[in-house]
Amino acid sequence: RSPEPLILVIFGASGDLTIRKLVPAIYHLKQQRRLPPELTIVGVARRPWSHDYFREQMREGVEKFSVGVGAEALWQDFAESLYYQSLDMSNLEDYRKLDEFLTQLDKERGTRGNRVFYLAVSPNYFTDAIEKLGQAGMIKNPQKTRLVIEKPFGRDLSSCQDLNRVVQKACDEKQIYRIDHYLGKETVQNLLVLRFANAIFEPLWNRQFIDHIQITVAETVGVEDRAGYYENSGALRDMLQNHLMQLFCLTAMEPPNSMDADSLRNEKVKVIQATRLADTRRLERSCVRAQYSAGWMKGKQVQGYRHEPNVNPESLVPTYVAMKFEVNNWRWQGVPFYLRTGKRMPKKVSEIAIQFRDVPYLLFQSAAKQVSPNVLTLRIQPNEGVALKFEAKMPGADLRSRSVDMDFGYGKTFGIEGSDAYDRLLLDCMLGDQTLFTRGDEVEAAWKVVTPALSAWEMPNDPIVVPQYEAGTWGPSEAEQLIERDGRQWRRL
Ligand code: BG6
Repeated sequence: RSPEPLILVIFGASGDLTIRKLVPAIYHLKQQRRLPPELTIVGVARRPWSHDYFREQMREGVEKFSVGVGAEALWQDFAESLYYQSLDMSNLEDYRKLDEFLTQLDKERGTRGNRVFYLAVSPNYFTDAIEKLGQAGMIKNPQKTRLVIEKPFGRDLSSCQDLNRVVQKACDEKQIYRIDHYLGKETVQNLLVLRFANAIFEPLWNRQFIDHIQITVAETVGVEDRAGYYENSGALRDMLQNHLMQLFCLTAMEPPNSMDADSLRNEKVKVIQATRLADTRRLERSCVRAQYSAGWMKGKQVQGYRHEPNVNPESLVPTYVAMKFEVNNWRWQGVPFYLRTGKRMPKKVSEIAIQFRDVPYLLFQSAAKQVSPNVLTLRIQPNEGVALKFEAKMPGADLRSRSVDMDFGYGKTFGIEGSDAYDRLLLDCMLGDQTLFTRGDEVEAAWKVVTPALSAWEMPNDPIVVPQYEAGTWGPSEAEQLIERDGRQWRRL
C-alpha cells in the first residue's frame, strides 16, 4: 500500500533532525518505491532560504547520513518535490501565507489538500505552532490533515497535560502522531511478534516463572553539542520516560485484541497505570541518578559532563538513571523491573533481559559455582536478535553443566539489518496508521510513574549532591546497590 498524494510540511527544516533523519528517510522510502509520485515536501524555518538552497542542503544530508543519492535521475525527481518557505513561528500572518502556498502546490502537484505537519522544532515552539496552525484553519479537517510531534511531550505531568490540551483543542487525537522513534525499531516490534506469534513464551511470561526483568539502554556518546536541550532534560526525561518506558510497556502489557492502534495503546496505558516506583518513601531504593565525570573511552580521555561545552559547571542534570518498577497486577505482582540508561557507558547496547526463576532443586554440578538461571535476551541494538541462555552438559565423563546460548541474529537470518526507525514511522503516518505512535493518555500515565523522582530531585533550594560515575564505566555504585539490595546483579554487558 502506498500513501495518498500529500504534502509533508516540516517545521524546523534547517535543523538537525530534518537533515540527518527525516529527509534521508523519505528519500530512502522513495528509493524503495514506497511513495506516490505526487508526494511533496515543504521545508519551513525562519531563515530566508530559496527552494534551490534547501534542495542543496537536503542533498548534502542524504549523502552524509544515508546511503547516498544513488541514481541521479531519481534524486532530480525528488529534488523537484522539495520546496522551502520561510516562516516566523509566532506570526499568524506567516501561517496564512504558508497555507496559500500549500493550496497553490495542491493544484500544481495534485496533492488534494492532504497534509502532514511535522514539528521538528524545539518543544518550546510546540504550543505556539499548534495554536497558530489551528487559528489559521490549517488542521481543521480530520480526514486530510495530521500533526506529528517529536518528544519530549512536556517536561513533567502538568506541562504534558497542558500540551495535550492545546493539541486536543486544535485537532482530534486521531490526527496526532507522537513520535517515539524506539517504536519504529524492528527489534522493538519483534518483541510483539516474539510474544504473540509464538506459543511457547506467553505461558512463561508471568510471576510464576520470571524472577525479574532488566531493561538497559546504554550509550557511549556524551552530551555532544546538545547541551542547550539536554540541560533542560537529562536522562530521565530524554530516555527513561519515553524510550525505556515503551520497551517496558511492550514487555509487560497484556496481549491486545488486535494490532489496531487503540487496542495496542489501551493495553499500554493499562499496564502503565498499574506501575509504580518500587519504594516511593525511600526513593533511593527505587531510583538513582548520576552524572558522568572525566574518564576514558576506548583509550581516549574524555571530559566530565560539567565541563562539556555550554553545560552549567554546577549542573545537577543526570546523564544516568536507574529505576526499579513494580507492576501491581495479577501477572507481575512481586516481579521487579529494573531499568537503566546512561551516556558515556563502556558500550552502546540496548536490550531487554527476562531472567527466569532458579530450578527448584539442583541435580548436577555446574562449571560455575552455581547453575545460572535461564535468560531470554532481546537485543534491540546493535547485533539485533534474540538469545536464550540455558544450561548444557559439558563434554566429558562428569555430569557437569555450563551455560550456553541459543542465538537468533537478525542480520544473519534475514540477510539485512533492520531499516531505520524513521522510514517506518514516516510511512505509517502518511498511511494514517497510529499503532506505533503514543497516545496522549499514555504519555501522561508515563509521567505519573516518574513524578515522585522528578519532584524529589528538583526540590528548590535543596543542597543536592548528584553522584558521579567515571566516563567509560557502568554507572555509580548507588545503582549497583539498588539491585544488589534485592540479591540480584546488573547484567555484565
Ligand atoms: C534520542 C535522545 O531520543 O535518542 C538521545 O534524545 C539519544 O539523547 C537517542 O542519544 C538514542 O537513540 P538510538 O536510536 O541511537 O538508541
